[in-house]
Amino acid sequence: MERYLLRDDIWWVGAIDWNTRDFHGYDTVRGTTYNAYLVVDDKVALVDGCREGFGHEMYARVRGCCGLRPVDYLVINHVEPDHSGAIPELVEKLKPERIFCSKRAKDALSLYYGAERVAGWDLQIVATGDEVPLGNKTLQFIEAPMLHWPDSMFTYVKGAKTLLPNDAFGQHLATSKRFADEVDINIVMEEASKYYANILMPFGGQIQKMLAQIGELGLEIETIGPSHGVIWRRPEDVARILEAYQGWSAHKAPERVTLVFDTMWHSTERMTMAIADGVAQEGVECQVIKLSVSPRSEAAHQILESRAFLVGTPTLNNNVFPTVGAFLTYVKGLRPKNRIAGAYGSCGWAGGAVKQVDAELRDLGLEMMDPIEVRYMPTDAELDACVELGREVGRRVKAMEG
Ligand code: FEO
Repeated sequence: MERYLLRDDIWWVGAIDWNTRDFHGYDTVRGTTYNAYLVVDDKVALVDGCREGFGHEMYARVRGCCGLRPVDYLVINHVEPDHSGAIPELVEKLKPERIFCSKRAKDALSLYYGAERVAGWDLQIVATGDEVPLGNKTLQFIEAPMLHWPDSMFTYVKGAKTLLPNDAFGQHLATSKRFADEVDINIVMEEASKYYANILMPFGGQIQKMLAQIGELGLEIETIGPSHGVIWRRPEDVARILEAYQGWSAHKAPERVTLVFDTMWHSTERMTMAIADGVAQEGVECQVIKLSVSPRSEAAHQILESRAFLVGTPTLNNNVFPTVGAFLTYVKGLRPKNRIAGAYGSCGWAGGAVKQVDAELRDLGLEMMDPIEVRYMPTDAELDACVELGREVGRRVKAMEG
């Protein structure tokens, strides 16, 4: 089996999932990887596990990198099942002398895999600043709550200037290459952005704190090995992803507008095209996402990369159109900030959906445009009003700070 050296006797021993297309509701069109790292020194430590069903692949890679040497330690940075699903199998096969995780991870492991089984593991709870010497290298732990769950933590390998931050800085990208500099960097950054939008968007405040803490701890970072996708190792790539996280977590976005909509008989669609034309007339880029043909995870991605988003819906049975309703539920959980938002759409007789969308977006604390609702088919005058809405959004977007 191919071996992948990160640096300084740190090996990638993860698994490649070429086929997953649904990651808890996120369309992972390029698959993913479950990354784990074997730090070989006087002691051998495995950092992270993988999803159930991939344990055999990880085990084979571990044995390919350290032969029959015992794996002394296991670090569980995060308990979500894409990282811990194979942990019971790996513990059974590798029999680590000690397992390190956060307090919350220990509680969650008991709930996932059974208190009795977990009580049989030699689990040691660690917190920020705790260290485990391996020989020339030392593992240092940094709690990272909500990146992406309360139990999450990072492992820093002192002596190798390497950060293993689990979900942070990842991408859902399956590839036979292991490093960002070995594949098209535009694809890597697109997937990193999509990943941030769908996994980390609600946690901008925590990410800002984490970035500040890395600075306070004085960690020198030359390599970042996330738990999904490719590894960042060139100085320009490490700087690129850290800078992207600074911007995303500060809720900054390029000068773009996204229109997210669905339609029954093309009325809301015609309104959408008129608004898009208005945005374009202001020289601002506009993205259009029709929810019946594009996944809501792509809409979330476009919202991350836009300063404004407007949501268009027909009224169906006095209610928001179902695809738009599902999207609203999703976007409310992601809690976008520092965005202009608005609602528009069409109805036949009673209406009401546009008002509901407007109220839902208003609850998110966003700067709201006045809503537009038309009956049956938009008239020329109503389409002109949509163009003007687009122009006004374009003007406001240009006036915002990036
Ligand atoms: Fe990759 Fe939060 O799991």
